[in-house]
Amino acid sequence: MPQAALYGTPGIRRKHSIMIHDNMESAKKGAACPSQQKSANRQNEQEAMIRDTLAKITHKIFVLSGKGGVGKSSVAANLSSALAKKGYRTGLMDVDVHGPSIAQMLGVTDLLDITPDQQRILPKQVSENLVVVSVQALMQEKDQAIIWRGPAKTGMIQQFIGSVEWGNLDFLVIDAPPGTGDEPLTVVQNIPEALGVIVTTPQEVSLSDVRKSISFCKTVKLKTLGLVENMAGFCCPHCNEVIDLFKTGGGEKTAKEQGLTFLGSIPFDPQVVVSGDAGTPLMLEGKDTAFTRAFSGIVDNITKQLKI
Ligand SMILES: Nc1ncnc2c1ncn2[C@@H]1O[C@H](COP(=O)(O)OP(=O)(O)OP(=O)(O)O)[C@@H](O)[C@H]1O
Ligand SMILES: [Mg+2]
Repeated sequence: MPQAALYGTPGIRRKHSIMIHDNMESAKKGAACPSQQKSANRQNEQEAMIRDTLAKITHKIFVLSGKGGVGKSSVAANLSSALAKKGYRTGLMDVDVHGPSIAQMLGVTDLLDITPDQQRILPKQVSENLVVVSVQALMQEKDQAIIWRGPAKTGMIQQFIGSVEWGNLDFLVIDAPPGTGDEPLTVVQNIPEALGVIVTTPQEVSLSDVRKSISFCKTVKLKTLGLVENMAGFCCPHCNEVIDLFKTGGGEKTAKEQGLTFLGSIPFDPQVVVSGDAGTPLMLEGKDTAFTRAFSGIVDNITKQLKI
C-alpha cells in the first residue's frame, strides 16, 4: 500500500519502511534507495500541486451520506448548477468511482481533454460558470465497470484535485459514493477545509445510516453546513394532495438531535429523474417548481452560513 494512503488515516499509524541497501556504506548512512527517493519526490510534487489547486478555490462543499440512492448526486448536481446560475465560478467533482452518475446528470458524454503540454486534465465546461470532472469521462466504454482497490482510488481522487486545471473557483462541489470508505476519507484527508452537506431521506432506515455519516464527520473533524432531507413529499399532479412517500420530518428531527443545521426539505419530483437522465439539472434550467423553490431555500441557507 503506498504511503500516501496511510498518512493521516484515523486508527492507522505510519508503518516503518523497509529499505534494501546496495552496500554496507549506504546502509550505515541510512540513505534512501533511489526508487524510494523518487516516489517520495513524486508524492511531494503531488502534495504541492494539490495545495496550489486548493489555494485557488474559495469554498469546498462535500456532499455525502451513509445511505445509497438518497439523492447525493442529484443534490450535488443541482447545488453546483444553482451556484453557477447565481454567477459563482463552480466546479463539480465526482469521486464515486464505482457508480459515477455526475457525467450522465450533467450531459457530459465526451472523454476529458488534457492541456496542450499534456500535464493537466481539463474539466468539461457545462455552462458559463460550471465545470465538471467525473471518472466516467475517463472511460472509453460507458458501461465498463471499474475494479479498483483503495490505493488506486486514493490516487485517482488526488489526481482529480491536483492534476485538474480547475483554475480560480468560488466553489468546488464534491459528490461522494455512499458510506464512509476510501473515497470520503481521501477527500477529507486532502481537502480538510471542505464543509459537509449530508443528504438523507426521511425514513428511519436511511436516518440510521445517516447517523453513521454524522459520526464519520465528527471523527474525521469534517465541519458540516448541515443536513438536507430529500424526497420528502410527493404532490399528486391529479388531486394536489401531498403524499409522504418516505414519511416526513425525520431529517429535521435527526438534525436537531445531532446538533446539525437543518438546511431544508426537498420534495419528490419525477422531473428530477427526467432531468437527471437527460443531463440538465432542474436548477440549471431555472424553472419555477416546488422542487426548485425548496432547493433555492437550501442554497440560500448555505450561502448565508458562508456569509456571501
Ligand atoms: N427529489 C427527488 N425527486 C425525485 N427523484 C429523485 C429526487 N432526488 C433524487 N431522485 C432520483 O433518485 C435516484 C437516485 O438519486 P441519486 O443518484 O442522486 O442518489 P445517490 O445518493 O447519489 O445514489 P448513489 O448512492 O448510488 O450514489 C435518481 O434516479 C434520481 O433522479
Ligand atoms: Mg451518487
